[in-house]
Amino acid sequence: MTRMSAPETPQAAPRILSGMQPTSDSLHIGNYLGALVNWVKLQDDHDAFYFVADLHALTVPTDPEVLRERTRKTVAQFIAGGVDPQRSSLFCQSHVPEHAELGWVMNCLTGDGEARRMTQFKDKTAKGQSANVGLLTYPMLMAADILLYDTAFVPVGEDQRQHLEITRDLAGRFNTRFGEALVVPEPYIVKGSAKIMDLQDPTSKMSKTGSSPKGLIDLMQDPAKIAKNIRSAVTDTEAEIRYDVANKAGVSNLLIIHSTLSGQSIDELESSFVGRGYGDLKKEVADVVVAAIEPFQVRMAELLDDPAELDRILASGAERARGVAQSTMVRVRERVGLLPAAR
Ligand code: TRP
Repeated sequence: MTRMSAPETPQAAPRILSGMQPTSDSLHIGNYLGALVNWVKLQDDHDAFYFVADLHALTVPTDPEVLRERTRKTVAQFIAGGVDPQRSSLFCQSHVPEHAELGWVMNCLTGDGEARRMTQFKDKTAKGQSANVGLLTYPMLMAADILLYDTAFVPVGEDQRQHLEITRDLAGRFNTRFGEALVVPEPYIVKGSAKIMDLQDPTSKMSKTGSSPKGLIDLMQDPAKIAKNIRSAVTDTEAEIRYDVANKAGVSNLLIIHSTLSGQSIDELESSFVGRGYGDLKKEVADVVVAAIEPFQVRMAELLDDPAELDRILASGAERARGVAQSTMVRVRERVGLLPAAR
């Protein structure tokens, strides 16, 4: 591979970084359209770092074997969805121990109240879920993920905005206290990025944990089942196919799914459906989704069949990531006053 590994090498393309937790066995179409499609596009003109946030996943108790399995599947899904490990650095968070190390430094820069005020922590604890300290310090580990790589942009969904704010605060605080050493990243909340809603409850976001099985489009599901779920999506009592999220959430959601996968604009779709019924819309959306999912599933099967190849991909991604992360940590350790270990 001809890739640059020295962090001092001038970056031709701006660096971006993003991650996803291996929280379930498969991505649903909301993650796929909302994030992955975008990652794939961005890798063309950015120096992209994409990783599986397995350390973050430990905040929710998970059976170890299940976690390993989900981690492999998540990596496979990135690749099947179009992330190219030759062009992007694709790795597993835990393979680069500097994440945890810088995470600790970030913890020590964060106020206790500041951490407790984070909405994700408040929401999770308000729901009565028992929280461990990992959940409280989740944002500081995420800040470390980002700051280790001199990241310029972090492409994430709207729900991650507050995490990026605290990352920027922590980077600024570090630089003020210890001298400029960390790049303050810009959020890259992708405008118009697809926000896919639950098929059965189109006013709430499609989510692996919150949605019922019928509300979800799971990328690893049998295509016939996917088509069936789309055909029974909740719409409304009118008959007009029009994009109007406030009044026609279900129909709008179907139009967004169609548009993102087919590349046709919402306007074009509205015109093509003039005078046609919801049944037609659902059938067409089902066809578009199934056509996209079938090749994805074939690629997934190939990847999962060859775990050694997945391991090689992760090893080379981690090697590149470690090169950058280690040099950041040399700077950080020196700045905060940790004694260098003699060799
Ligand atoms: N918190 C992110 C999510 O749940 C995942 C994540 C962890 C992440 N570390 C990150 C995203 C760093 C972007 C950058 O979606």
